[in-house]
Amino acid sequence: MQGCKTSSSFAKTFAALKTSPIGIFDSGIGGLTLAHAVKNLLPNESIVYFGDTAHLPYGEKSTAAIQAYTVKIIDVLLQHQCKVILIACYSASTAAYELAAAYTASKAKVISMIEPVVNFLGTTYKQKSVGLIGTRQTINSGVFDQKIKALQQRIDMKFLATPLLVNMIEEGFFNNNISHSIIEQYLSNPALQGIEALILGCTHFPLIRKEIDAYYQQRQLQVQTIDASLLVATHLQNYLQTNDLLQLPTTTPTYKFLVSDYTKSFEASTTLFFGQQVALEQFKLWE
Ligand code: DGL
Repeated sequence: MQGCKTSSSFAKTFAALKTSPIGIFDSGIGGLTLAHAVKNLLPNESIVYFGDTAHLPYGEKSTAAIQAYTVKIIDVLLQHQCKVILIACYSASTAAYELAAAYTASKAKVISMIEPVVNFLGTTYKQKSVGLIGTRQTINSGVFDQKIKALQQRIDMKFLATPLLVNMIEEGFFNNNISHSIIEQYLSNPALQGIEALILGCTHFPLIRKEIDAYYQQRQLQVQTIDASLLVATHLQNYLQTNDLLQLPTTTPTYKFLVSDYTKSFEASTTLFFGQQVALEQFKLWE
């Protein structure tokens, strides 16, 4: 694999330190919802965020393409000496987690969206019926299905690809008639009937959580929506605590937001996902 040479040189220089930043990446700026959860839970940690805005949406890309982008982004995050790399994208988690973990090896810990969600279901939703919505990549990969089946907890999983929701949110269509009607079309799909919980399996979806909750409340259906941001941030916190890698409270954290393709509209949209506007810096993956 091209790039392996580059990364083996990191092995000689890289040692995880308390002061090293947390690397977080996503196909674009949707993963800022997870970065925001990390910042809230771990306010002393520095963050380097990479949004691959040149290649989004990952949800419609091939597994091989997502894997190639992931390796490039990991190189960038390792150059920034990240102690942990958080894959803040369900599509990239399902397409490239194992490759990312093998490629990164001992140079940094890789955490994806998969393990925290699967562990949570195994402890909280045994013998229950749970839905998961996400991109085509996330659903068609079958990764969540395999991992949840491997728990042997008789969780009845129901999956539905909801690709329109990402574009809808990026276009700013939420809390309006258009979003209500698209959400209703998807959630009333027979594939999702009878569920007791719904996993929002895409980092864009926390932005429409209230609308999804309202859909179920209006129909008097008891469906718990699960935004995994806090689960993943807590998983990260546990890892840092166990490995004595938590940043000391005496240091001031730094934040860096890199994107592979800069536009003003991406920067303006950071407010939606991160709760405040942040300055994006362009960092090309390929020259
Ligand atoms: N961030 C992606 C995810 O969580 C959704 C957007 C995309 O398709 O790139 O799956």
